Amino acid sequence: MPLAPSNEEITIAELTRDPYPIYRRLRAETPVLRVKSVGRTMLTKAADTRYVKENPELYSSDDPNTPMQRAFRAHTLMRKDGETHRAERMAMAPTFAPKVIKEHWTPLYQKTAEAYVDRLPRGEVVDLFPALAAPYASRGLAYLLGLDEASDADMARWSQVLIDGAGNFGWREEPFAVSDAANDEMDALFESLNDRHRAEPNPSALSVMLNAENPIPKSQVYANIKIAIGGGINEPRDALCTVLYGLLSNPEQLRHAKESNDWTTAFEEAVRWVAPIQVSSRLVTQDTEIRGFTIPKGDTVMTIQASACRDEDIYGEDGEDYNMLRPKAPHQAFGNGPHFCQGTHVARRAVAEVMLPLLFDRFPQMELAGDVVWQGFGFRGPITLPVRLQ
Ligand code: HEM
Repeated sequence: MPLAPSNEEITIAELTRDPYPIYRRLRAETPVLRVKSVGRTMLTKAADTRYVKENPELYSSDDPNTPMQRAFRAHTLMRKDGETHRAERMAMAPTFAPKVIKEHWTPLYQKTAEAYVDRLPRGEVVDLFPALAAPYASRGLAYLLGLDEASDADMARWSQVLIDGAGNFGWREEPFAVSDAANDEMDALFESLNDRHRAEPNPSALSVMLNAENPIPKSQVYANIKIAIGGGINEPRDALCTVLYGLLSNPEQLRHAKESNDWTTAFEEAVRWVAPIQVSSRLVTQDTEIRGFTIPKGDTVMTIQASACRDEDIYGEDGEDYNMLRPKAPHQAFGNGPHFCQGTHVARRAVAEVMLPLLFDRFPQMELAGDVVWQGFGFRGPITLPVRLQ
């Protein structure tokens, strides 16, 4: 069987600016493609991305070639397979239990959302990315993880530093020096919180992991709090900006969302339309095959869930549009298989059920007020969202 075709033209800069026209072309012409600039075999069809994530024996998350372990100074649950992965994931599970989300996190998110929306100025043009989406995502995660003492700015900075380190594929020293310093700060904070969480057990991730009957090693508790910091701020922040853009640029859909009070569908359509985590990587554990091409052991495949979420096989020809009224179909923005996003329901609550109705209730005439800039290859969302609040 032949190897998949290779491509030397696609650049990371192009993918960062706007990957969607490229993915559309790849889905039609070369859905399995070795892309030189990213050093991976890109998979752009929904059936293939799902298949890879659902077969961890063939496509492992444990890839020693990525800089993630170096950046986190730890091997996190996101990069483990099988029983070890399961045990560490289960250690955090009580934090994400439906009853806990409903009775503990939702009221806290409601209070936080009200406080953060209250400080927005009325009648002015405001960039909602820094003024609302980023701090709201930081505070929600700080509570969820049991890091109430960390500032919004610290949470956001640590998250970005970890992401930059994990994406440092050139293995340059400088991003690792910065992530080392941030790791020191986080370790010191976690250590200082042990006594409080032991004395007052609560549903936060740090507390449930420290107080478990058979706790996982403390190094792993800290490592997995860090993976949640690295992977729990950008996505709700970007999802909020994306859904706001989708609704504000489609007034008839916004009207429908208000009338039906169905903010969850608006949110799901936003993460389908622009998946906050656009790509994932898996290491190939034995020679195998996809769509008639050999995928050799040792290769890394990149599942492009951003592309899967617009696949014509599922969404027809209008997958490129934001349309909350489209027929319901499953999407892959939260992943698939054993690493399916653990924060899915919390994010839905925080953004769709708490923030959106509150924001449109306070500012029913809110409108876009300037250019919206989108950016990102690994993570993607608007990096500005100027609106007039009224
Ligand atoms: C709109 C919001 C979010 C989106 C779109 C999203 C997306 C994803 C995706 C695609 C993955 C799978 C990555 C892979 O397969 O390699 C993932 C994993 C994960 N997410 Fe989220 N996420 C969101 C919010 C959150 C939040 C708020 C948390 C809170 C802590 C969170 C925690 C996690 C964790 C811990 C994992 C790793 C699970 C594992 O490896 O078993 N996510 N997320």
